[in-house]
Amino acid sequence: MVQNLGNGSAELNSSEVQLVAQETAQKCSSMMQTCLGPDPDSSEAIEFLCLAEGGEVTHYEVLAAISKRLNGKIKNARKLSTSVSSILKEEKRRLALCTRLEKQTATSE
Ligand SMILES: [Fe+2]
Repeated sequence: MVQNLGNGSAELNSSEVQLVAQETAQKCSSMMQTCLGPDPDSSEAIEFLCLAEGGEVTHYEVLAAISKRLNGKIKNARKLSTSVSSILKEEKRRLALCTRLEKQTATSE
């Protein structure tokens, strides 16, 4: 979907966005189970959260760059850009929180 948006030929389709989001959530859940195994401790869980949040920050940085380029080229480009900026800000806040938690966990052991 990001590729379709990137070439400027697509309109923003909310059902397609939801479908991709569901697929991504399933992939993430499967990665989490593989990464953490059956009996994770809190340090491993926080480390996984940091990985996930870092991935999300990168994803929304890329989406922000694409949405900026699409301004004026597709319907709802401004709305997309505003939504992506808002989500990116929140993901950065969560990554900072996870990083702080991992530092606390690592230095308290
Ligand atoms: Fe997140």
